[in-house]
Amino acid sequence: MSYNRRLWFDGCLDFFHYGHTNAILQAKQLGDQLVVGVHSDEEITLNKGPPVQDLSERCLAAITCRWVNEVVPYAPYVFDLAWMRKYNCQFVVHGDDISTDAEGNDCYRHAKAANQYLEVKRTDGISTTELLDRLLTAAPISTYTISPSDLMTYEPFLRKFASASNGKDPDVSIYMHTPSGPEEIISGVFTNKIRLVKSPIYLDGDWSLFTGNHMKALKACAETFPTLPIVVGIFADDKCTEKPVLNLLERTLNLLQCKYVSAVIIDPPSVKNWDMVKFLKTKFGDLIENVSYPNFFVKDEDTFQVTLAEKPTESFHILDKRGSEAIKQRILSRKQ
Ligand code: CTP
Repeated sequence: MSYNRRLWFDGCLDFFHYGHTNAILQAKQLGDQLVVGVHSDEEITLNKGPPVQDLSERCLAAITCRWVNEVVPYAPYVFDLAWMRKYNCQFVVHGDDISTDAEGNDCYRHAKAANQYLEVKRTDGISTTELLDRLLTAAPISTYTISPSDLMTYEPFLRKFASASNGKDPDVSIYMHTPSGPEEIISGVFTNKIRLVKSPIYLDGDWSLFTGNHMKALKACAETFPTLPIVVGIFADDKCTEKPVLNLLERTLNLLQCKYVSAVIIDPPSVKNWDMVKFLKTKFGDLIENVSYPNFFVKDEDTFQVTLAEKPTESFHILDKRGSEAIKQRILSRKQ
């Protein structure tokens, strides 16, 4: 049996952002399996100040991350070797910033002393505090916006985040909307297998802050239709329904790291514009034998109302269980 290197990573993971996921991705690339510990609300409050999101929401973020194998709630704030060993991990991984406890001591001192500490590069320019500032001070979008054309400046970053669960192989496909249709800018498994997949599910939106509701909606889609790939449309900063807290790059990275997403389309027209339906059908539908594309759309980001492509006036909630069941029934009945 080949050696299985299991690594431990932990944190508050409040307002899950691409700084956290970039650290998680780098950690995953150092091993085979990644276990993520999430600190309790009480311990964070004691050592750093109260988190914005509660433990269940912060754990959900880690659960939905493509590169995470296991999530452990109530992980101790001051790193504990015995705790890590209980989960069969050989090393703990942390960003190259120092985390301190309420007394000002290095939280990872025991791991460092035992030579069981690995470091990855902390991502500049993003933090929970930065996001809260944008929310609270209502910073103008002009101070952080990124246009679709500028997005390609970050191509290596996007390619890295489009990787599979091992953090290495290509997986998610990225398309950029152009007047003649979505053009592939990064090729993933979805692109290669498009002739084989069943009709994908398409959800468009602002995805302003990647919250528990977004994660739950994507999870609900994936669990309700386990065989259908999920394609996500991400509106450009100036075309969002409301001013987004995150810019186009940050929102794209959030969607790429989510394990339920097979492909993203950058800057699509809203599906409220039904030309988009025709356009998607032209681009993908013709390639998929016997099944029309797409199945349904999320119309409203807050309530996650979804609308069947062929019946734009009918909508229902995806988050309630009966809603998910209803979607399933409707799709099944459409296919007969
Ligand atoms: N991290 C990172 N880059 C960032 C933010 C966090 O690499 N911009 C890493 C940290 O180094 C740590 C992990 O993400 O290994 C979890 O961090 P967390 O405990 O959630 O808190 P902070 O480091 O304080 O992150 P933030 O300031 O965003 O709350």
